[in-house]
Amino acid sequence: ASLELGPYRHFMQKEIHEQPRAIADTIEAVIDNGAFAPELFGADAAEVLRDIEGVQILACGTSYYAGLTARYWIEAIAGLPCSVEIASEYRYRTAVANPKHLVVTISQSGETLDTMEALKYARSLGHDRTLSICNVPESAIPRASRLVYYTRAGAEIGVASTKAFTTQLVALFTLTATLAKLHGRLDATQEAEHLDALRHLPGSVQHALNLEPQVTGWAERFAPKDNALFLGRGVHYPIALEGALKLKEISYIHAEAYPAGELKHGPLALVDEAMPVVVIAPNDRLLEKVKSNMQEVRARGGELFVFTDEDSHFGPSDGVHVIRAPRHVGVLSPIVHTIPVQLLAYHVALARGTDVDKPRNLAKSVTVE
Ligand code: G6P
Repeated sequence: ASLELGPYRHFMQKEIHEQPRAIADTIEAVIDNGAFAPELFGADAAEVLRDIEGVQILACGTSYYAGLTARYWIEAIAGLPCSVEIASEYRYRTAVANPKHLVVTISQSGETLDTMEALKYARSLGHDRTLSICNVPESAIPRASRLVYYTRAGAEIGVASTKAFTTQLVALFTLTATLAKLHGRLDATQEAEHLDALRHLPGSVQHALNLEPQVTGWAERFAPKDNALFLGRGVHYPIALEGALKLKEISYIHAEAYPAGELKHGPLALVDEAMPVVVIAPNDRLLEKVKSNMQEVRARGGELFVFTDEDSHFGPSDGVHVIRAPRHVGVLSPIVHTIPVQLLAYHVALARGTDVDKPRNLAKSVTVE
């Protein structure tokens, strides 16, 4: 294993650092094509996607959080209603199907039983427009779908998903832009802007990776904690969820994520000096709202660990630690802000001495119920 690991201590760390490459590989077809085009999703994609009226996303685990992120994009950019559901819930409830909705399954392995069964159930309800976003060519879920977009993350060995997640996000963004274009919601200028944003993404992710020494500095403070809270708003709320999931999976610290606006409806009762609160707070139109949520935490003695970007112009103060990504990257910001929460979970787990690549009780791919 040491040969394969190169300079890294664990596969998870290696896979975190492979993200600029994995993202560049995943968007290569789009960049080479110089435009968002249905053909990127399969031969008859133009026909399948043209008159859809909505999107239903089905997935489990980290892939479900990629879906939650995509909902913000699909509704805002493509103007299509989008629901996202945990596959194991969807498959066992009586759902109302609209055959004009596109069913999108997201699965790193392409073999997760609940996701496969949810897809079969959707088909039995009359959904025949199906698309899979998957990292393993010719696995079960893409084979059962009409359209597919393969992420090109390469083999992911660490049980906690990292590069699969960020490449799923770029695939979902590509889907969003393609749907927007097909539905007349993307003019040439906007298309060029989105392509440009994708082109610059591997570089922005690399800048976020360069924050690793600062994140490592936080890990020592987290290691002795029993609980942690993650907050985000809007498109960064699913990134807070993903950050909490990563931390609990590999460090065994109990972590929960909330949309920051929900703080006052419950989790604020948990906040005291012992509670570290991680906030994903890029400089977007919700920043002022997030700042007032942070004051609510500080007023109860909670210690804040804030991931932001250079444009946000606020610095550290008593009980407030700040790490800044270089600049706000716009619509792809949730992808960039995933990097520091992955690094935080990794370094906290390292400090606690857990089995990072093989956390207890978890499997890389769950092919049984
Ligand atoms: C397991 C893995 C997770 C993954 C989830 C869904 O729980 O440990 O990392 O997100 O399955 O897997 P999939 O292969 O369908 O994305």
